[in-house]
Amino acid sequence: MEVKSKLFVEVVAPVESALNKVSVIGCGAVGMACVFSILTQNVSSEVAIFDLNADKLKGELMDLQHGSAFLKSAKISASSDDLKITANSRVIIITAGVRQKENESRLELLQRNVEILRSMVSKLVSYSPNAVLIVVSNPVDILTYVSWKLSGFPQNKVIGSGTNLDTSRFRFLISEKLNIAPESCHGWIIGEHGDSSVPVWSGVNVAGVTLKDVYPALGTDNDKENWKEVHKNVINSAYKIIQLKGYTSWAIGLSVADLSLAILRNSQKVHAVSTNVKGLHGIDDDVYLSLPCVLGENGIVKTIKQELNEEETKQLKISAKILAEHASQLKI
Ligand code: NAD
Ligand code: LAC
Repeated sequence: MEVKSKLFVEVVAPVESALNKVSVIGCGAVGMACVFSILTQNVSSEVAIFDLNADKLKGELMDLQHGSAFLKSAKISASSDDLKITANSRVIIITAGVRQKENESRLELLQRNVEILRSMVSKLVSYSPNAVLIVVSNPVDILTYVSWKLSGFPQNKVIGSGTNLDTSRFRFLISEKLNIAPESCHGWIIGEHGDSSVPVWSGVNVAGVTLKDVYPALGTDNDKENWKEVHKNVINSAYKIIQLKGYTSWAIGLSVADLSLAILRNSQKVHAVSTNVKGLHGIDDDVYLSLPCVLGENGIVKTIKQELNEEETKQLKISAKILAEHASQLKI
């Protein structure tokens, strides 16, 4: 091209992939919320998107690219027929698959979404052997277990977005009750992402003041302030949002961008993510569910040994049993 030859003196060919490349599989509501959060928060300078729906993908790609001038030097690419677009990723986020209809549970999506994983996970890891996989599609805990099996990766490199989202909902709802910022309300939701999740009431604190120490009824049935309702609302959040707008997207997008950042920056931040918990808290099954984990560039670096009380341990074991029973019916 004449303009190029008159304008440039070639010094060296540009490198093909950024060192912080992130790929997002699925350009639906969740996939695009992840992409948008990652780009606008400068989590990565290169994002590749894969989805079988060519028209939707092309539309999303064009729409994002037209905003490039407002981003900080990000390369965005997409393909509907070749997973090679994801090659050399450091993080791969899987959001492809069916989502819940009104009143449908996450566990009801299982077999349909397993088939989608079977079609792609081994190819994804062959193109990006150094990647960490973050599974988001539901039911996320069991699909993380399936992805780990299909990938051949070590456990640390296959993570489910898990209760990072439920924990954020929990902190927001506590903050509304106390009228202080969510970042200053510390508390964790562990276990299944969804219906059998476990609130760790024994650890909820503000500035190191444990709420259960100052108000022992917290989270129990005898609580006149009904804090238990906060956890009920965490569980019902997704059902309510799906009833109102058809799907959930922004909070999960932000939550996954935060997990990606922790990995890409090797930050050693603690997040509640889904991991294999066999041997922890008296759980004997090979089951994935969320516990607080330290994240770094190879995924999960450490699991935190939370001091759970008897009731919390009992609930966590129930959550593990539910997930193990569903996983045992699977053909991977
Ligand atoms: P959506 O229907 O908007 O998008 C799904 C996308 O997946 C579609 O664009 C579809 O074309 C694509 N897809 C389907 N099969 C594919 C394949 N084989 N390869 C590539 N792309 C494929 O759904 P959504 O609202 O984006 O939800 C996606 C998933 O995320 C659902 O399973 C949903 O339940 C789950 N989700 C999880 C969380 C969480 O916290 N873990 C939160 C919200 C949603
Ligand atoms: C959520 C999805 C539906 O927003 O899992 O919780």
